[in-house]
Amino acid sequence: MKIAEFKLERLFAKYEFSTKYLLSSSDCDGFSMKEVLDIATEDELKLWENLKLGYTESQGHPLLLEAISQNYPGLTTENIIIASPGELNFSVMNSIMNAGDHVIAVSPAYQSLHEVVRSIGCELSLWHPDQESWEFKIEELQWLIKSNTKLIIINFPHNPTGTYLKESEFQKIVEIARANNCYIYSDEMYHKLVHDMPIVKPIASMYEKGISLWGTSKSFGMSGVRIGWIACQDKELIGKIGLFKDYLSICSSAPSEILTLIALNHQEYFIQHNLDKIRSNLKALEAFVEKHDQILSYTPPKAGTTCLLKLNIDISSEEFMEKLIAEHGIMTVPAEYFDIEGKYIRIGLGRKNIPEVLEIFDVFLESFYKS
Ligand SMILES: Cc1ncc(COP(=O)(O)O)c(C=O)c1O
Repeated sequence: MKIAEFKLERLFAKYEFSTKYLLSSSDCDGFSMKEVLDIATEDELKLWENLKLGYTESQGHPLLLEAISQNYPGLTTENIIIASPGELNFSVMNSIMNAGDHVIAVSPAYQSLHEVVRSIGCELSLWHPDQESWEFKIEELQWLIKSNTKLIIINFPHNPTGTYLKESEFQKIVEIARANNCYIYSDEMYHKLVHDMPIVKPIASMYEKGISLWGTSKSFGMSGVRIGWIACQDKELIGKIGLFKDYLSICSSAPSEILTLIALNHQEYFIQHNLDKIRSNLKALEAFVEKHDQILSYTPPKAGTTCLLKLNIDISSEEFMEKLIAEHGIMTVPAEYFDIEGKYIRIGLGRKNIPEVLEIFDVFLESFYKS
């Protein structure tokens, strides 16, 4: 198997821990161990303290499977499997797809949503949003369907645009998939981080061939825990994903499973904390863009942790990124890393210090006006 370099992850590997400020991260600040354990019940603390650091169950800790299944109306523990999100994406695609199958995927997208199916030899068609509103039109998805389409890959809340859909739009995607006997792989890593719209239930609860991915990294502010899960109605598929996963991590980290259990059992606390921070950062961003409206514009995100900032400047967004790192130690992700045409940078709204970073960014932009 050959697979293309993961450009975005290479960029983060280079700058995430060597640059002073991060303006484009898609995760929320990591909670401390103390905060997580402080909120745990006595029973949860007992599980934590008495935990044996041996191998864990291949499908996942039974209590964790139970807690996860509560989030998927109509599903039980047999409909869930636990691993890291990247492994799950890999295992799902390799379990259901073959060379020559046709796939439709949202674009821009987190790169693995395209590259893994490409590496299998699938034919990929990209479903693009309108470049002003970042809205994905359902009729355009319909036009992309072919006789050999086997899978539709979606990601709402959407990274990087912050787009979200109404329930009726999710239902239309399901209708298209059902009429063409396609799977829907719904990357729901930002599930429940919705700003001012109703939260739609996971695709796994909506559609018999719907596959939902969620995990701790974004909604819960625990990216270091490295736990994700797949939920789907098809128990046989859960088994197939497990067979593939045997060649990857075998089973999940024992401490991480218990931390995830605590996160899920107290999810209102974690998710609300992150939403409050994102909303407050959005206000700061709005004022910032208003101040710099000669060179910046954006479409406010509806959900998730990210949005795109359009740059009305003379240099490319990649050059802009390099200059901003060199002069002020602020890392951004330019449009090129999402194969977006035009000059944009991604803004990450899940970090507490965003107002402080915007103040330094402000100085950088002032110098831009003069040049
Ligand atoms: C849409 C999307 N899916 C999956 C992932 C991977 O999640 P994790 O970092 O937990 O592996 C990311 C991370 O940025 C993402 O944005």
